[in-house]
Amino acid sequence: MVCLGNICRSPIAEGILRHKLRAMKNEEVLTDSAGTSNFHAGEAPDTRMRMTALKNGLDISDLRARQFVVSDFDEFDLIYAMDLSNQRDILSLARNDDDRAKVKLILDEIYPDENREVPDPYYGGEKGFQDVFDMLDDATDQLIARYIE
Ligand code: 4NP
Repeated sequence: MVCLGNICRSPIAEGILRHKLRAMKNEEVLTDSAGTSNFHAGEAPDTRMRMTALKNGLDISDLRARQFVVSDFDEFDLIYAMDLSNQRDILSLARNDDDRAKVKLILDEIYPDENREVPDPYYGGEKGFQDVFDMLDDATDQLIARYIE
């Protein structure tokens, strides 16, 4: 799961997916998240995102931001970008067609080929965080149904 800062959208995407996999007792799928930038490397998720997670029954306070690295193409089979800018930045690091084929826009899971983006909630109000949570809840349900179940 990849966004810009790795403190709002991608950690909640990772947290929701991790939570669902645990509930399924799936210990095979490795989840992680990263930012295309290093702006917040080492930081815990944004307080507003952590609070939204808690309100929805999840604890993501253990997560720490890191920057996406080229070796992530070797570690992961699916790389989900939160928005088109993240997707472009990830694709600019791809080494070959195999790398490129792993990169998907997360909302394509529920709205295929519409190029919909998870809005960056960082500069907005509280509601933006719950909206992001709800979108990623739906998208991860679909992801699990498609690739894991
Ligand atoms: P994220 O949100 O990409 O969802 O983690 C952002 C967090 C911080 C910044 C931008 C987006 N920032 O510019 O500091």
